[in-house]
Amino acid sequence: MAASRSYDVFLSFSGIDTRNKFTGHLLDALERDRFRTFRDDSKLRRGKEIGPGLVRAIEESRISIVVFSKNYASSTWCLEELVKIMDCKRTLKQIVLPIFYDHEPSDARSQRGCYAEAFSRHEKSFGSESVERWRAALTDAANLSGYVLQNVANGSESKLIEIVVRDVADKLNPTCLSVADYPVGIERGVQQVCEFLKLRSDSDVRIIAIWGMGGIGKTTIAKAMYNRIHYMFESSCFLANVGRTSMQPNGLVELQERLLCDLLMDRNLPRIRSEDHGIEEIKQRAWCQRVLLVLDDVDNIRQLRALAINRGLFHCGSRIVITTRDLSSVSMLEVDEEYEACPLNEKESL
Ligand SMILES: Nc1ncnc2c1ncn2[C@@H]1O[C@H](COP(=O)(O)OP(=O)(O)O)[C@@H](O)[C@H]1O
Ligand SMILES: [Mg+2]
Repeated sequence: MAASRSYDVFLSFSGIDTRNKFTGHLLDALERDRFRTFRDDSKLRRGKEIGPGLVRAIEESRISIVVFSKNYASSTWCLEELVKIMDCKRTLKQIVLPIFYDHEPSDARSQRGCYAEAFSRHEKSFGSESVERWRAALTDAANLSGYVLQNVANGSESKLIEIVVRDVADKLNPTCLSVADYPVGIERGVQQVCEFLKLRSDSDVRIIAIWGMGGIGKTTIAKAMYNRIHYMFESSCFLANVGRTSMQPNGLVELQERLLCDLLMDRNLPRIRSEDHGIEEIKQRAWCQRVLLVLDDVDNIRQLRALAINRGLFHCGSRIVITTRDLSSVSMLEVDEEYEACPLNEKESL
């Protein structure tokens, strides 16, 4: 996650409409997936101006999610927030994601329906200058691509929250490994492996093996899983084709270097002179971060030894996933769970 921004997500919403409902659940889901989220929770939002703390929080967020509900525009506080958000979109290229909770974007775009009354009130109380700024911000925001609860998820709030959190993950952490061109039935495997990984728990290290015959789709599942969850860790590494690489001259040393380089994010690593030197280098670094490590296609215990894979070496909360054709090549590790990659069912293969 970018270091210069304090928050991943800023949530703008109408307190009376959604604080303890949709927005509350969305906040929980984002925090569960470790997104640093700012929700302006001042129950007493007085006056029109938003404070400097809030302005800074908006500026320092990577995405703003605006939950439009029927009372959103009644609050001049919300409208000021929205003006600032749209400002950050223009100047700081912030991502803005509108969600229409209980009405269509067209109402917001042209300030009709639930917006009409609020705006006629605002016109009487505030000068036309303020009102014009609010109108412009609303129209701009409602023109962005976003979500309409009724249309996207058939009214299911929990489904929409799931979709939004996935979208936030994709936007903040663009997919890094390419998966099959037309993945079919991949979700089942990814979900099962993620469940085995117990991602919410930080109290131990977990090791999962994905096994099955060659070509069945182990690497594909591991890549899709990696893309989905790598952002939850402080550092991560996907070592592809461990078996094949280890057969090449100096292959194990190359793997050791890649592992150290990715996990330590350190460009001044010593050159690894030999396999033994590599093992010592890896062992000496007490891993002080939660890491995600994928070892793809391990076919021999020697590869795990060369990479000094040992549960005790990793920081609590770390996860190690190994794909292999033969479980006996990982038997030294006391794997927590084994997932057998299965062939597609009849419908999926069609
Ligand atoms: N669910 C899937 N949908 C579409 N293509 C897939 C799927 N699973 C695997 N493939 C394709 O099948 C081939 C073999 O899969 P791979 O994951 O490399 O198998 P393994 O690692 O078990 O040997 C790859 O070209 C991959 O893109
Ligand atoms: Mg493979």
